[in-house]
Amino acid sequence: MFPFKYYAPTRVLFGRDTELRVAEMIQLFGGKKVLIHYGRGSVLRSGLMQRVTDTLEAAGIDYVMLGGAVPNPRLSLVYKGIELCKAEGVDFLLAVGGGSAIDSAKAIGYGVYNGGDVWDFYDRKRVAAGCLPLGVILTLSATGSEMSDSSVITKEEGLIKRGYSSDYGRAKFAIMNPELTMTLPDYQTACGCADIMMHTMERYFSGSGTMQLTDAIAEGLLRTVMENAEILLRDPNNYDARAEVMWAGSLSHNGLTGCGSDGGDWMTHKLEHELGGLYDVAHGAGLTAIWGSWARYVYRDCLPRFRKFAVNVMNVEPTGTDEAIALKGIEATETFFRRIHMPTNLRELGVNPTEAELADMARKCAMGVGGAKGSARLLHEADMLAIYRASL
Ligand code: NZQ
Ligand code: ZN
Repeated sequence: MFPFKYYAPTRVLFGRDTELRVAEMIQLFGGKKVLIHYGRGSVLRSGLMQRVTDTLEAAGIDYVMLGGAVPNPRLSLVYKGIELCKAEGVDFLLAVGGGSAIDSAKAIGYGVYNGGDVWDFYDRKRVAAGCLPLGVILTLSATGSEMSDSSVITKEEGLIKRGYSSDYGRAKFAIMNPELTMTLPDYQTACGCADIMMHTMERYFSGSGTMQLTDAIAEGLLRTVMENAEILLRDPNNYDARAEVMWAGSLSHNGLTGCGSDGGDWMTHKLEHELGGLYDVAHGAGLTAIWGSWARYVYRDCLPRFRKFAVNVMNVEPTGTDEAIALKGIEATETFFRRIHMPTNLRELGVNPTEAELADMARKCAMGVGGAKGSARLLHEADMLAIYRASL
């Protein structure tokens, strides 16, 4: 077991109608002038935004609005948000939406607080000294950004998608009403479940450092998400299933499932970020398209963990060699992804990169991680290229 820091300062309000307490939360954290940041309109169409603005107006909280955060949120909108906040004297950010709106809001917060070019943080040139306070009303259970320290932004020039992590970016509060996710298309619900699983699996498949309790939490979380993802396929308005998935999403990425490990692997995410930057695919689908190829490439170097995962999460019979059990676990995971209509290769994802594009993604991925990364197995550029090729 490795020593660890666990820091999860976000105040969570979970359940029906909790969005009606947003003004109270903003006041609790001292917000006087709010930027409400959102995506391409789902929160307007669902009526959620009207409820939010009515609540703020009733409480006398001043606000400005900025929509337009797209999946794989863009740097240009972040710059626009920073200018708007400065011009309007904004002192609090409220993200209403999924990971993209939240991540874009975090980036705006870094930009306003620190000055200079906000991309420097994502480009590893500077470290943030703070962030404007941020609150979240979550509408998509997926990224865990509502409690995580991360923000992922895409720079249009060069289509570079990069993450930045800092405790300053953790939300002050997260409002989670599972009912708000019932308007999601089935595809986004499934992408979200895949992403939640992957945040847990990235931490689970670590080459060293484990903790019995952390493993038990992770395995329970994975089984819960799988069970409820299938319920939601048949019954998308099932409140309890929505609630299970929503809470799992937050716990999957707030650090809890990594306590005692070496930090985890994260290479499926890094490989996906290049796909998201170049082809603008949904994050969860990009992950499942890559995962099987990654797993088959690395499992021999992390055999005890793959075996344990196969038996405890995927219900594989513990008979035969460790290698055979591990491989059955990988197959069962891919079968599950297909059951929830997630792709298990790039073709199913709908992209068909040329050899030059694969090489370019591998080069950018290696550059983004500072040369090599991975805990299940350390991967260099040539390994990344091999995994991209295997996932075609
Ligand atoms: O833009 P709108 O109109 O709101 O529509 C969105 C978007 O089209 C829609 N949507 C969201 N809630 C809805 C809804 N539609 C109907 N009803 C609702 N209740 O869903 C689509 C996807 O939304 P988006 O926010 O892009 O999805 P997600 O939450 O999966 O976020 C993806 C982004 O987060 C990054 C990903 O890389 C990607 O850029 N990640 C962020 C992380 C973090 N900050 O900790 C960690 C993750 O690993 C991930 O990398
Ligand atoms: Zn993710």
